[in-house]
Amino acid sequence: MRVLVTGGAGFIGSHLSEALLARGDEVLCLDDLSTGREANLELCRAQTGFEFVRGSVLDEALVARCVKRVEGVFHLAARVGVRLVLEQPSATLETNVLGTRHVLAAAARAGARVLFASSSEVYGRNEHPPFAEDDPLLLGATNEPRWSYASSKALGEGLAFAHAREQGLPVVVVRFFNVVGPRQRGSYGMVVPRFVRAALAGEPLEVYGDGAQTRCFLHVADAVAAVLSLWDEPRARGQVVNVGSARELSIQALAECVRAAAASRAPIVHMPYREAYGMAMEDFRRRAPELTRLTGLIGARTIRDLESIVAELVSAGAAQPTSGAQRP
Ligand SMILES: NC(=O)c1ccc[n+]([C@@H]2O[C@H](COP(=O)([O-])OP(=O)(O)OC[C@H]3O[C@@H](n4cnc5c(N)ncnc54)[C@H](O)[C@@H]3O)[C@@H](O)[C@H]2O)c1
Repeated sequence: MRVLVTGGAGFIGSHLSEALLARGDEVLCLDDLSTGREANLELCRAQTGFEFVRGSVLDEALVARCVKRVEGVFHLAARVGVRLVLEQPSATLETNVLGTRHVLAAAARAGARVLFASSSEVYGRNEHPPFAEDDPLLLGATNEPRWSYASSKALGEGLAFAHAREQGLPVVVVRFFNVVGPRQRGSYGMVVPRFVRAALAGEPLEVYGDGAQTRCFLHVADAVAAVLSLWDEPRARGQVVNVGSARELSIQALAECVRAAAASRAPIVHMPYREAYGMAMEDFRRRAPELTRLTGLIGARTIRDLESIVAELVSAGAAQPTSGAQRP
């Protein structure tokens, strides 16, 4: 099958593109390289059936030309990362809403089907995890930039289902919960690469807030496997599906796990959100997925545990020749 991966030069997109190529699909990758990198595409470029187009999902004509050439679209291109979102709320809203609109409209015209990458962020202020796909989305005030990302993803989902209803577009929406692994960068606020880099460099691991807030971490290879299974499963069409791990871990415990894996003596320090981001930032205390729907669609899966994920990232970071630490 010939598919388009928007955001294919990014963290998840590049792993997904590799997996698609490995199973014999042809991949057209559209990415503006704003947070993605050419280097992420090294393995893809070595394969036949891969093509990279540098450009934006905001370029409606370009999106239409790309979509016309494929039978399916994995729409991952987005402004991502807490720091980036806080600094650029309007670019976040525009890219994530208008870009998604262009992709969906082009796919509906071309008869291509779509998988849209959404986020656990849409559950917002819901304080009762695990979050099920049909739970209400409790978003915060629109004048707080932190909500621009969650709002944009919720609108993207709404647009996807509107196109499905009005134009018969086959669409699957996946809500990722903290995907981690090789190639993820810490510079936009991603916690695991930030901790790994600091631990290896012997610098303080900065825990924002009290560290009791919890998250569930899923290895990118397991996320990609779930995405491909959902893509292949006709019953997933027309559905929102959580993709994550059930194991909940505090950020303090994550910092301790990374420090132990790196055999590092770097201190773990606590930093108020205002100091970390230059403005007040509402964080969620807990975030965990209800996985019944995912399991019902693709079956039970064995996934990598956090200790082995962290060990992999620490040894990859330590092997970096220049700094001895994985740079964000
Ligand atoms: N990593 C996670 O834990 C996580 C969690 C929830 C949702 N997601 C979603 O998964 C998708 C991939 O995220 P990621 O973690 O790989 O981040 P990433 O930043 O590595 O990937 C996003 C990609 O989109 C590209 N991009 C941004 N704006 C673009 C534009 N206008 N036109 C074309 N390309 C553009 C970037 O260059 C980058 O390659 C995103 O949609 C994100 O919202 C990720």
